[in-house]
Amino acid sequence: MQEAVKEIRGSYALGVMSNDEPGVIIAARKDTPLIIGVGKNENFIASDIPAILSRTRDIISLDDGETAMLTNSDIKVFDSGGKNIKKKITRILWNPKKAEKEGYRHFMLKEIFEQPRAIEDTLRGKLDIDNGRIHLADIGLSPSYVRNIKKIFIVACGTAYHAGMTGKFLIEKILKIPCETDIASEFRYREPVMNKNNLAVIISQSGETADTLAALRLAKNAGLKTLAICNVVGSSAAREAHGLIYTHAGPEIGVASTKAFTTQLIALYLLVLYLGRVRKAVSREEAKKIMTALLRLPHQIRTILKKDKSIAAVAKKYYRKNAFLYLGRNINFPIALEGALKLKEISYIHAEGYAAGEMKHGPIALIDKDMPVVAIAAQGKVYEKLISNIQEARTRKGIILAVATAGDKLISKIADEVFFVPVTSEELSPVLNVIPLQLLSYYIALYRHCDIDRPRNLAKSVVVE
Ligand code: G6P
Repeated sequence: MQEAVKEIRGSYALGVMSNDEPGVIIAARKDTPLIIGVGKNENFIASDIPAILSRTRDIISLDDGETAMLTNSDIKVFDSGGKNIKKKITRILWNPKKAEKEGYRHFMLKEIFEQPRAIEDTLRGKLDIDNGRIHLADIGLSPSYVRNIKKIFIVACGTAYHAGMTGKFLIEKILKIPCETDIASEFRYREPVMNKNNLAVIISQSGETADTLAALRLAKNAGLKTLAICNVVGSSAAREAHGLIYTHAGPEIGVASTKAFTTQLIALYLLVLYLGRVRKAVSREEAKKIMTALLRLPHQIRTILKKDKSIAAVAKKYYRKNAFLYLGRNINFPIALEGALKLKEISYIHAEGYAAGEMKHGPIALIDKDMPVVAIAAQGKVYEKLISNIQEARTRKGIILAVATAGDKLISKIADEVFFVPVTSEELSPVLNVIPLQLLSYYIALYRHCDIDRPRNLAKSVVVE
């Protein structure tokens, strides 16, 4: 195997067995995750942690170029030169129950309902409200480096990219640091101008997405400090970045990301608060205010989840439609993109997410009596602009489904359906606004009899380019 892997091209994770040596597995990997589960009188190889969680929580992550030899009682790992090496065993704190459906019909629904708990876990131990301080033990950035950051790049794919887009609004608004958010597959080929006083933040649930890892390596090679926001302990991103913020979402099994997304947003708030305090861009009082609002989010999400049945009823009315348009502005523009992505991923309905102000430059031509327009009309500085966009869509006979802030009296007069969410600050509103959109797509997909947890053509982790 050690000789063979020198000749193999491309990315792979291999487990090889031979008739001549039963009870022995040889494993090797390149650019594709492979973990070894350390059991009692049994050992495992797998590509993802949930697969072995019911048998063991102790894992070894194999690195590129290494080979491993497993029997039921022994694990040996060799480096690319064939030398026997010692590897660190990581204990995964995920509860094996979390990788089961626990009575829910689908993992996606279970994971939507787990969000309050996932957010509490991500915040746990990080907030010192009395002193207005944030504790991020693994941030890996010295205060002098933080004070000197001139620009931040955020790079990610899919849903994590939408979290990153929200991060850009926060970073520019609160920290006043220029920030670019990019799709990893674009970033890695577009020759971005990076300097040593820039910070690269990569966001990835799995920590194994090929393009995101390539972007991380590119930034590292350009001399940038890198920070990974990821969910899977010991993943490639977690091991390769200089600093880390773990989202404590627990295993996410449904292909459509939900709790990973909201915890990524939480990690971004923590990062912005941390950087803001070190750079004195955020006062102690402001930090306290934001922290208090963050701590309220889990309860506020629970109140939205209680309206699950009414969201299902709306889904039942519109699940036969062929196309949806999602509109949002400013910090809720990424939420429009995320809402549309959730719907297309699992229901196979064509959905477009658009910056509402751009509607006149194209998508308005699509609106007619058969087109549901989902508008995120949260209170904030662009509320009135969004209301006029809704009026424009109504004039074209579009069906208006609005996400709005509790207490908004106007919205019910101009929208066909309204999903009310509790009051929070404009900066934190994306965390609440996305919840009804997740449920809406879930129920639409359910009525359309789609394979919700395993939508066609999609993978949970895209580990090849
Ligand atoms: C796939 C998944 C998405 C996810 C994206 C990025 O497309 O289906 O749900 O957002 O990969 O994955 P990552 O693990 O890097 O967050």
